[in-house]
Amino acid sequence: MQIISSKKELKLFVDRTIQNKMKIGFVPTMGALHQGHLSLISHSLIETDITISSIFVNPTQFNNSDDLKNYPRNLKKDFAMLEKAGCHVVFTPPEKEMYPEKDDRTFNFDGIDAIMEGEHRPGHFTGVAQIVSKLFDAVNPHKAFFGQKDFQQVAIIKKMVEKLNYKVEIVACPIIREPNGLAMSSRNQLLTNKHREAAPLINKILKSSLQKIHSFNNIEQIKNWVINEINKSPLLKVEYFEIVDTKTLKKIEHIQSHNCFTGCIAVWAGKIRLIDNIIYNY
Ligand code: PAJ
Repeated sequence: MQIISSKKELKLFVDRTIQNKMKIGFVPTMGALHQGHLSLISHSLIETDITISSIFVNPTQFNNSDDLKNYPRNLKKDFAMLEKAGCHVVFTPPEKEMYPEKDDRTFNFDGIDAIMEGEHRPGHFTGVAQIVSKLFDAVNPHKAFFGQKDFQQVAIIKKMVEKLNYKVEIVACPIIREPNGLAMSSRNQLLTNKHREAAPLINKILKSSLQKIHSFNNIEQIKNWVINEINKSPLLKVEYFEIVDTKTLKKIEHIQSHNCFTGCIAVWAGKIRLIDNIIYNY
């Protein structure tokens, strides 16, 4: 596996790969890798010829300076995991390489950034689009792989691709979970033991709501039930639970008028914020 940290060197590799008519798959990450990230690498290895991953803890998408400071970093372990997974290139630029000057760009996401993560983490999606657009420019991928764990992020990236006319296909991959149901996340390693034990309740309640979906009369009932059940744990505090149309991400008001909707949740487990989601087929 090649480790590249400058855009110039990456460009030489990318140009050569494209000249050789090989398709590039791209998996952007912020490191502290786990099986969720590696599943994206596997998808890319199957669907493309050359897989490039990036590790860059992007400061512009953090709306909380402690979260940025405490974000787990373990490059050596990440390299070993990527190498073992069969990744061909890892791009690990220093901050100056991605932001030689302040990025003032804003994006029009047609409103899908106004709710959920966008509402609770102001500026987050602007930062995500800033870095992902810069990475797309540097990597020039045919396909880029993102996890459904960040359900709204996938929609934001697709919107950005459409608006900025990128020629990349966005592939959304399933959520990888711990055996106890907890969605894998780099932030899980920051949980205290007691919060780690409590956190699987999030997915357990989402799954129960899926099983019980036909016993609810309306959206408010589902939302209240999920929020109350999770908040019964003294260690968990729901920040939001929102139900949106899976395609448009618009909040939905009547279950009966939609056959596919997604429940998205953010929960505080002590000082750590976890997100998850579930797709309901009605
Ligand atoms: P990061 O949180 O490191 O996640 C990188 C990719 O891994 C994202 O597409 C995310 O959805 C996916 N992922 C994380 N946990 C997953 C899981 N349990 N199952 C499946 N996929 C999972 O998301 C980011 O970084 C950043 O916002 C980034 C896109 C790299 C821009 O900085």
